[in-house]
Parts: sequence; C-alpha cells; structure tokens
Amino acid sequence: MLACGFPRVFLLAAACLVLSAAAHAGAGSFSSEDLAGAFDDSGLAQGKAPGQSVKDGLNAILAASTFKDRPCAGCHQGFAPGTKGLHPIIEMDGCGSCHEAAHTRPQKRYKWLSADIQDLCVPCHSGAAFDDKVRHAPSRMGMCTSCHDPHVSSKKKLLKNEPPLLCFDCHRAEGFLRKNRHSPAADGSCMDCHLPHSGPNRKLLTDPKVCFNCHDESGIAGGKVVHAPVRASACGSCHDPHSSDRGKLLVADKLCVRCHKPEAFTGASVHYPVRSGSCDSCHQPHRSEFSKLLSQELPGLCFGCHDESEFRGKKVVHYPVASGDCTSCHSPHAGKAGKLLLSEKVCFECHDEAGFDGTGKHVKAEPRWCVGCHDPHQSDRGHLLRGK
Ligand code: HEC
Ligand code: HEC
Ligand code: HEC
Ligand code: HEC
Ligand code: HEC
Ligand code: HEC
Ligand code: HEC
Ligand code: HEC
Ligand code: HEC
Ligand code: HEC
Ligand code: HEC
Ligand code: HEC
Ligand code: HEC
Ligand code: HEC
Repeated sequence: MLACGFPRVFLLAAACLVLSAAAHAGAGSFSSEDLAGAFDDSGLAQGKAPGQSVKDGLNAILAASTFKDRPCAGCHQGFAPGTKGLHPIIEMDGCGSCHEAAHTRPQKRYKWLSADIQDLCVPCHSGAAFDDKVRHAPSRMGMCTSCHDPHVSSKKKLLKNEPPLLCFDCHRAEGFLRKNRHSPAADGSCMDCHLPHSGPNRKLLTDPKVCFNCHDESGIAGGKVVHAPVRASACGSCHDPHSSDRGKLLVADKLCVRCHKPEAFTGASVHYPVRSGSCDSCHQPHRSEFSKLLSQELPGLCFGCHDESEFRGKKVVHYPVASGDCTSCHSPHAGKAGKLLLSEKVCFECHDEAGFDGTGKHVKAEPRWCVGCHDPHQSDRGHLLRGK
C-alpha cells in the first residue's frame, strides 16, 4: 500500500490519488477488499463496481476523453442512470454539470464542485419562481441543498424530507402543535398555503386570499357590512393559521380590544356583556347584514336579553323607545353616566333645556331628576308620568 491508503486519504488528497493511480496501474495493488465497507454513504456501491476492477475504474476516469464518458456511476451506483428519483440533469449530462475533475485533480472547491455551492444551481434554475418580491431566506441565500438532495431522492422533487419535517429543520415545531390544530397545517400540507422559494405575497403565501381556497368566501366576506380586517384578508390578525390553544384558532382571549381601544369600553357604567368580554353576544366577527356588524337589528338585539314588555306595551311609549332607538340615550358599551346613559343631561339632547328653567308651566328641574317624575321608556299615564 502507498502511504496515502485507500479510501480515506483518497478523498483528502486527490493529488496523491493521481500519483497512486499511476503507480497502481503498474503495481495493481488495489483490491476489492480495500473498498469493502467504504460505500455505505452517499449512494456508493458496496464493494467494487460490477464487471470492473477498481484499478480499471480509476484508469477509466483518467483515460476518458470527455467528462460525460467517465464512468462515475460505476462506483457511485446510487446515482446510476435510470435510478428512480434521480436529478434529471444527471440522466442528461452525467456528473459534469456540477463536479469537475473529480478524483483527477486536487479539490479546488468542496467536493470538486464546479462552482461555489450557493451559485451551483442558479445557472439552470432561476427566474420568477426564485426572484419574486418576497424571498424565502434559504433560497435567497442559495442554500438549495438544505432542502434538496442534488442527486437523488425517494421523495418527490429531490426533497430531502417532506413537509412538515423538512420545514421543522429550521422552524420551531411548537407553533404547529398547540391544542387546536388547523387541519391543513396539522397534516403537513404546508405547500397548500406557502411557496418554497419566493412569491408575490407576504409570508410566501400562494394566494393573498389563500383562506378562501377552502373556506366559502361569501359566508365570511360577503354581505352588506364586512369587518375591515376581513375585507383586507388579514385573517391572521385574529386566527393563527397553524394552531392555537384557544377555540376557533383565535390568537388572543381579549381579541377585539387588541385593535379597538379598551378606553372606549370604560365609563361610569359598563354593560355587563362588555365587562365579561362577550363582544360576540352582539357583534359578528366577519360580516353582517346589519350596520356595525350587529348580529340583529335594534331594538331586537336588546330584547334578546331584556324583556320587551318592560319597555314597550303600556299605553304611552316614549317616542325614541317606540322607534327602537335605544342608543339615543344608552351606549351599548359603557356610559359617561350611570345606567349606560350617554350623558347626565341626556334628556336635553332632544328637549330644549330652556323649556325647563321654571319660567314656563313646567317645574324647574335638574336633568337627573326628570326620571323622578317621568319613566324614560313607557307609562300607562299621560306624559310618561310615573305612579298613578
Ligand atoms: C473506482 C470507483 C470510483 C469512481 C469510478 C468514481 N468515484 Fe468518486 N468516490 C469514490 C470513493 C471510494 C469515494 C470516497 C467515498 C467516501 O469516502 O464516502 C468517492 C468520493 C467522491 C466524491 C466526494 C468527495 C468528498 O470530498 O467527499 C465526489 C464528489 C466524487 N467521488 C465524484 C465522482 C465523480 C464525479 C466521478 C466520475 C468522474 C467519480 N466520483 C468516480 C470512488 C469512485
Ligand atoms: C446538480 C449538481 C450535481 C450533480 C449533477 C452531481 N452532483 Fe454530486 N454533489 C453535488 C453537491 C452540491 C454536493 C455537495 C452536497 C453537500 O455536501 O451538501 C455533491 C456531493 C457529492 C458527493 C459527496 C457525497 C455527498 O452526497 O455529499 C459525491 C460522492 C457525489 N457528489 C458524486 C456525484 C456523482 C457520482 C455524480 C454523477 C452521477 C454527481 N455527484 C452529480 C452536486 C451535484
Ligand atoms: C446544468 C443544469 C442544472 C443544474 C446546475 C441544476 N439542475 Fe436541477 N434540473 C435541471 C434540469 C434540466 C431539470 C429537469 C427539468 C426541470 O424540472 O426544470 C432539473 C430538475 C430539478 C428539480 C426537479 C426535480 C423533479 O423531480 O421534478 C429540482 C428540485 C432541482 N432540479 C434542483 C436542483 C438543485 C438543488 C440544484 C443545485 C444543487 C440543481 N437543480 C442544479 C438542470 C439543472
Ligand atoms: C425551504 C426548502 C427549500 C429550499 C431552500 C429550496 N427549495 Fe426547491 N422546492 C422545495 C419544495 C418543498 C418544493 C416542492 C414544491 C411543491 O410541492 O410543488 C421545491 C421544488 C423545487 C423545484 C421543482 C419546481 C417544480 O415546479 O417542479 C426546483 C427546480 C427547485 N425546487 C429548485 C430549487 C433551487 C434551485 C433552490 C435554491 C435556489 C431551491 N429549490 C431551494 C423546497 C425548497
Ligand atoms: C434551512 C432552513 C429553513 C428551512 C428548511 C425552511 N425555512 Fe422557512 N425560513 C427560514 C428562515 C431563515 C426564514 C426567515 C426567518 C425570519 O425572517 O425570521 C424563513 C421564513 C419563512 C417564512 C416567512 C417568510 C416571510 O416573508 O416572512 C415562511 C412562511 C416560511 N419560512 C415557510 C417555510 C416552509 C413552509 C418550509 C418547509 C417547506 C420552510 N419554511 C423551511 C429558514 C428555513
Ligand atoms: C391554511 C394555510 C396555511 C398552512 C397550511 C400553513 N401556513 Fe404557515 N402561514 C399561513 C399564514 C396565513 C401565515 C401568515 C400569518 C400572519 O402573520 O398573518 C403563515 C405564516 C407562516 C410562517 C411565518 C411566521 C412568522 O411569524 O413570520 C412560517 C414559518 C410558516 N407559516 C410555516 C408553515 C409551515 C412549516 C407549515 C406546515 C407545517 C405551514 N406554515 C402551513 C398559512 C398557512
Ligand atoms: C387547504 C384547505 C384550507 C385552507 C387553505 C384554509 N383552511 Fe381553515 N380549515 C380547513 C379545514 C379542513 C378545517 C376543518 C373544518 C371543520 O372542522 O369543519 C378548517 C377549519 C378552520 C377554522 C375553524 C377551526 C375550529 O377550531 O373550529 C378556522 C378558524 C379556519 N379554518 C381558519 C382559516 C384561515 C384563517 C385560513 C387562511 C389563513 C384557512 N382557514 C385556510 C381547511 C383549510
Ligand atoms: C376580527 C377578528 C377576526 C378576523 C379578522 C377573522 N376572523 Fe374568523 N373568526 C373570528 C371569531 C371570533 C370566530 C369565532 C366565531 C364563533 O365562535 O362563532 C371566527 C370563526 C371563524 C371560522 C370558523 C367558523 C365556524 O363557524 O366554526 C372560520 C372558518 C373563520 N373564522 C375564517 C376566517 C377567515 C378565512 C378570515 C379572513 C378572511 C377570518 N376568519 C377573519 C374572528 C375573526
Ligand atoms: C386586527 C384589528 C381588529 C380586530 C382584532 C378587531 N377589529 Fe373591529 N375593526 C377594525 C377596523 C380597522 C375597523 C374599521 C374602523 C373604522 O372604520 O373606524 C373595525 C370596525 C369594527 C366595527 C364597526 C363596523 C362598521 O361597519 O362601522 C365593529 C362593530 C367592530 N370592528 C367590532 C369588532 C369586534 C366585535 C371585534 C372582536 C371580535 C373586533 N372588531 C376586532 C379592526 C379590528
Ligand atoms: C349589548 C350589545 C353589544 C355588545 C356586548 C358590544 N357591542 Fe359594540 N356595538 C353595539 C351597538 C348596538 C353598536 C352600534 C352603536 C351605534 O350605532 O351607535 C356598537 C358599535 C360598536 C363599534 C363601532 C364604533 C361605535 O362605537 O359606534 C365597535 C368598534 C364596537 N361596537 C366594538 C365592540 C367591542 C370590541 C365589544 C366588546 C368589548 C362590543 N362592541 C360589545 C352593541 C354591542
Ligand atoms: C347579551 C345580553 C344583553 C344584551 C343583548 C343587552 N343587554 Fe343590557 N344588560 C344585560 C345584562 C346581563 C345587564 C345587567 C342586568 C342586571 O344587572 O340586572 C344589562 C344591563 C343593562 C342596563 C343597565 C345598566 C346599569 O348600569 O345598570 C342598560 C341600560 C342596558 N342593559 C341596556 C341595553 C341596551 C340598550 C341593549 C341593546 C343595545 C342591551 N342592553 C342589550 C345583558 C344584555
Ligand atoms: C329617552 C332616553 C332613553 C331611551 C330611548 C331608552 N332608555 Fe333605557 N333608560 C333611560 C334612563 C334615563 C334610564 C335610567 C332610569 C332610572 O334611573 O330610573 C334607563 C334605564 C334602562 C335600563 C335599566 C333599568 C333598571 O331598572 O335599572 C335598561 C335595561 C334600559 N334602560 C334599556 C333600554 C332599552 C332596551 C331601550 C330601547 C328599547 C331603552 N332603554 C331606551 C333612558 C332611555
Ligand atoms: C332622542 C330624542 C329624545 C330624548 C333623548 C328624550 N326625548 Fe322625550 N320625547 C322625544 C320625542 C320625539 C317626544 C315626542 C314629542 C311630541 O310628541 O311632541 C318626546 C316626548 C316626551 C314626553 C312627553 C310625552 C307625552 O306623551 O306628552 C316626556 C315626558 C319626555 N319626552 C320625557 C323625556 C325625558 C325625561 C327624557 C330624558 C330621560 C327624554 N324625554 C329624552 C324625544 C326624546
Ligand atoms: C316634579 C315632577 C317633574 C319633574 C322633575 C319633571 N317633570 Fe316633566 N312633567 C311633569 C308633569 C306633571 C307634566 C305634565 C304637565 C302638564 O300636564 O301640563 C310634565 C310634562 C312634561 C313634558 C310634556 C309636556 C311638555 O311640556 O311638552 C315633557 C317633554 C317633560 N315633562 C319633560 C321633562 C324633562 C326633560 C324633565 C327633566 C328636565 C322633567 N320633565 C322633569 C312633571 C315633572
């Protein structure tokens, strides 16, 4: 054996190989035993190439006039023509489009590659699919081999692994494994929503309205009133597209006040369903046939919880109550005054304050006293008077 024994040093010092190959041509000292066991990884044959001694093989490399003729696959049998899942370029052009002078010259580059690894694939694979507006970092950086095997794979498209495992090499899996999982993310169909290399949409989405590829658009974003973030397809502002510990994949417990100022829901009095965070008892999250995304029109909405007969039914019903305009006096959320009233002087929104200064036939009255004599909603007596 020469000092640069086979195969370990064969790799490290190809120059030595050239010398040794020349030497072996005479000495014939490579034997199949030398190669036995050296071929487990990277598609190499176990033992010597069929019908070919190692010496012949190495000599053939040196003797072949064109790269394509060089019988690389004789030893690297995993990459032999006809192998299932082989990179088509190997089928077409052998190894030479990516490796140059393998085994015959010292490695100028890693693994005798003909270009730096980040530039290797680009000459053949480029264009819009790779250079669009939003680019996936590993693809932009030419790290193609972090996802693809350059030679052969049992997975489709030369992938080293299939999504989601492929993706979890770099992206933490936790975000996908919370209690409630969105079925397409849970079953690994990442590519239903994302492009692998680049694309025109944020977050590499296949479509700016990707959700509607599966969910009925008219049921979510159709109708007279559509919530602004739904109209903008910003579904991700409320739903985690992958998984969530909350029901319906929601991203937060107090979802609505992430965007709507919480101050708008505080005051001298706060409506019970608002205090308990049940915005959904009155509003739809996506769309509605009624203004302000209400799930029902006023006053029916209020009578869903408050007994209608306490407001309408007696002989005299206050005009704004009869017309269902509860919000002309009450805030549905929180009032500046008690009982959700819009203000202390709410009666003077419609009745001229000057008429109650005591100079007319009416008593001089503090606004908050009006309801001492009048029921604001209804009465069996004239003038909405209380009592008998
Ligand atoms: C006589 C058998 C034989 C032939 C023919 C052969 N190789 Fe190799 N090749 C090997 C062995 C053995 C190794 C070392 C494998 C190992 O240690 O994993 C190797 C390693 C390599 C490596 C990896 C080098 C490294 O640094 O890891 C490349 C690239 C390579 N061969 C390319 C080629 C190409 C291209 C051809 C055709 C021009 C070719 N080989 C022909 C036996 C051969
Ligand atoms: C499309 C480009 C390309 C072609 C064509 C190609 N290789 Fe490679 N090869 C590479 C790259 C890139 C690496 C380095 C992979 C790495 O380390 O991530 C590599 C590495 C290798 C290695 C080292 C072992 C390994 O898997 O890392 C061997 C052996 C090898 N190639 C042999 C061959 C042979 C033999 C052929 C022809 C049958 C061939 N290659 C064709 C790109 C190619
Ligand atoms: C010399 C040209 C050439 C180079 C360099 C090259 N390829 Fe290819 N590649 C092809 C051709 C040709 C095809 C088949 C046609 C096609 O799908 O575009 C192909 C197909 C593919 C496919 C699709 C395989 C399939 O099953 O459909 C992938 C993935 C791929 N190449 C990845 C790579 C990667 C990664 C590199 C760099 C390590 C690379 N290619 C370098 C020419 C090349
Ligand atoms: C993050 C992982 C990842 C990286 C990095 C990556 N790819 Fe891909 N690539 C994929 C996936 C996944 C597919 C299969 C997409 C599908 O299911 O249609 C694919 C498909 C391909 C295809 C086949 C396209 C087709 O339409 O058939 C080619 C060619 C390709 N990639 C080349 C490259 C090249 C070149 C690079 C480097 C610039 C690269 N890829 C980087 C994951 C990746
Ligand atoms: C080799 C590592 C690697 C792999 C594998 C990988 N990614 Fe990435 N991905 C990254 C990096 C790095 C970023 C940029 C992260 C950042 O900006 O915070 C990123 C960002 C993203 C983004 C956000 C893009 C944006 O514009 O904000 C998406 C979506 C994504 N990856 C999806 C995937 C999917 C789907 C897969 C599997 C097919 C995958 N990734 C596999 C490294 C990887
Ligand atoms: C149903 C469509 C859908 C599926 C399936 C899906 N995603 Fe996403 N993904 C999205 C959307 C939408 C966003 C952007 C969320 C946002 O910020 O609005 C996103 C964002 C991402 C991001 C970027 C996160 C960030 O904070 O920037 C990564 C990484 C990602 N997805 C990886 C994956 C992986 C890996 C899979 C497969 C396990 C997957 N996605 C499956 C729709 C999907
Ligand atoms: C590839 C198809 C597909 C896409 C794309 C898709 N979904 Fe889904 N989604 C489903 C399926 C399937 C279910 C389960 C249906 C069921 O349980 O009734 C579901 C259920 C949901 C649920 C209810 C979850 C629960 O716990 O009840 C929400 C919320 C949801 N998706 C939001 C989204 C959002 C937001 C997007 C866009 C980022 C999106 N979906 C895109 C297929 C999809
Ligand atoms: C403002 C927050 C918000 C936005 C934005 C939003 N959703 Fe929702 N979504 C919700 C809430 C809250 C629920 C739960 C409703 C319930 O429990 O009745 C829900 C429920 C769902 C459901 C499950 C429906 C069911 O009946 O089980 C789907 C599917 C869904 N949303 C899809 C989407 C899609 C697609 C988008 C983007 C077009 C989107 N959502 C935007 C808040 C939102
Ligand atoms: C991602 C931010 C965001 C979240 C979360 C959000 N909203 Fe909105 N909402 C908006 C924007 C933006 C508008 C439009 C504001 C404007 O026109 O002044 C709006 C408007 C509204 C309107 C008035 C609609 C109209 O037609 O005038 C109602 C009612 C509403 N949101 C209720 C809710 C409820 C209930 C929730 C919780 C389920 C919620 N919002 C969560 C952003 C959000
Ligand atoms: C008791 C029913 C009810 C509840 C509960 C409720 N709202 Fe409203 N909301 C309404 C009504 C009624 C309107 C229309 C007010 C108007 O037209 O003057 C409205 C209007 C709105 C508007 C439009 C802006 C405005 O002030 O006119 C937003 C935003 C809003 N609500 C958000 C919320 C949020 C967030 C919650 C939970 C914290 C919530 N609502 C709880 C009944 C309710
Ligand atoms: C989801 C049920 C629900 C709906 C819908 C609802 N309310 Fe209420 N409301 C309550 C509850 C519960 C209380 C507290 C009752 C109690 O303490 O006796 C309350 C109390 C009130 C109070 C008294 C507040 C106080 O500080 O004492 C007023 C005023 C009121 N609601 C007006 C309305 C108006 C106006 C509407 C329609 C816009 C409406 N409510 C719709 C459940 C509802
Ligand atoms: C003209 C102004 C006005 C209108 C319109 C109005 N309310 Fe009132 N409401 C009041 C005043 C003032 C009070 C406080 C009465 C008191 O303190 O005795 C009140 C009290 C209430 C209370 C609390 C009763 C209690 O015993 O604590 C409820 C509930 C209520 N209103 C619901 C409604 C509903 C529902 C509507 C629409 C059908 C409506 N209001 C329309 C002025 C109005
Ligand atoms: C949104 C406007 C509006 C508000 C606020 C309002 N009212 Fe009225 N009120 C009316 C209208 C309209 C009439 C009918 C006037 C008419 O028929 O000449 C009326 C009539 C009355 C009547 C006379 C009923 C009758 O049969 O003669 C009384 C008493 C009354 N309001 C008391 C009040 C009190 C007390 C308040 C404050 C709690 C108040 N109003 C707040 C609009 C309002
Ligand atoms: C001390 C009891 C009392 C108080 C306090 C009181 N009212 Fe009256 N109000 C009456 C009586 C009694 C009538 C019937 C007068 C009549 O028959 O001419 C009346 C009649 C009315 C009328 C219908 C007649 C008209 O003048 O148009 C309105 C409107 C009215 N009051 C509003 C108010 C308002 C607003 C307040 C608070 C600023 C108020 N009242 C405070 C006892 C009162």
